[in-house]
Amino acid sequence: MKKTIRDYELENKKVIIRVDFNVPISDGKITDDNRIIQSLDTIKYAKEQGAKIILMSHLGRIKSEEDKEKNSLKIVASYLSKILNDDVLFSESTRGDELEDLINNLNPGEIVLMENTRYEDLDGNKESSNDPELGEYWASLGDIFINDAFGTSHRSHASNVGIASHLPSGIGFLIEKELNALSVLDNPERPFVVILGGSKVSDKIGVIKNLVNVADYILIGGGMAYTFLKASGLSIGKSLLDSENISFCEEMLNKYRDKLILPIDSVNAKEISENASTNECFISDIKEDDIGLDIGHSTIKLFKQYLNDSKTVIWNGPVGYSEIEQFSNGTKELCEALKNIDAIKIIGGGDTAAAVINFGFKDAFNHISTGGGASLEYLEGKSLPGIEIISDK
Ligand code: 3PG
Repeated sequence: MKKTIRDYELENKKVIIRVDFNVPISDGKITDDNRIIQSLDTIKYAKEQGAKIILMSHLGRIKSEEDKEKNSLKIVASYLSKILNDDVLFSESTRGDELEDLINNLNPGEIVLMENTRYEDLDGNKESSNDPELGEYWASLGDIFINDAFGTSHRSHASNVGIASHLPSGIGFLIEKELNALSVLDNPERPFVVILGGSKVSDKIGVIKNLVNVADYILIGGGMAYTFLKASGLSIGKSLLDSENISFCEEMLNKYRDKLILPIDSVNAKEISENASTNECFISDIKEDDIGLDIGHSTIKLFKQYLNDSKTVIWNGPVGYSEIEQFSNGTKELCEALKNIDAIKIIGGGDTAAAVINFGFKDAFNHISTGGGASLEYLEGKSLPGIEIISDK
């Protein structure tokens, strides 16, 4: 068991909280604030306990000076201040006098957000390669380290693993919630159904290998389904084909044919565009110039039969090209079905989380993970370095 923020006396202590404020920003506006909202419980708790709060996060990837401006966390500091209805100080520097003065002048309950940790990547990739000097320096700014950046926990960075190596550490409420939700995998109530989608088989090989041993059924949709269909001997027209992984799909189908449930029909178009006209047909009727972009009505019905009986559902990857209205029906229909099913329902983050929230089904699920890569690695059964490093109870 990892220590949590509750295991520490925070009053008057300088508490570094690593959050994941890596949020999408377009035209200077945050377009999905879920990660920020989910971090509020920990920040508010630290404030109530009288901690001097130092927030750190990365945003985007910093490879050149030009990347810095569009990936500044300044905009997030203002946003956080608005939703907390409280002052949030901002340090434009990631080291040095400005940062140190702001921290040393904090009163209990006050908050400072430091500029993007990955600004340090411009000088030898220091944050992303967990440079020992940087981790030690950042740790020297605080008394206690709380990791609440679940979305970053698959990375071994100076701002998580580096700092935690030098300070008493714990997880925050967001990571605690994620781990509690994802731990259904240890002993799922059955039938346990996994929905997998997204474009590439290669992204999901680890998840399939791990979950095929635990799940009762894996329903496969999205672009990746067409490689499985090809591997079962069907023609898929111009649909996405992950040719390097056909033999993996064949092997899985040979071993687990009864567990892996593939689409039986498909919504197709000649091009991937908002103006594309669509046709729907059984998989065996897909035309040579068709691109399969969503599951059809018969597949939705088939998938619903498995979901109706399920007691635990984990979903990772939309079952169609859901960013475009014409190809979003399958994903929406499965959301609608799950809304009315009495099971533990978990969304494994990334694109699926965005789709479910955009389509207005947030409340249909017990948990929507804030991790993309991190939840995927968790589902692959890998250990997450940002969590591993945290002190045990
Ligand atoms: C994410 O969005 O998955 C995390 O914040 C990690 O970001 P990264 O893929 O840029 O390391």
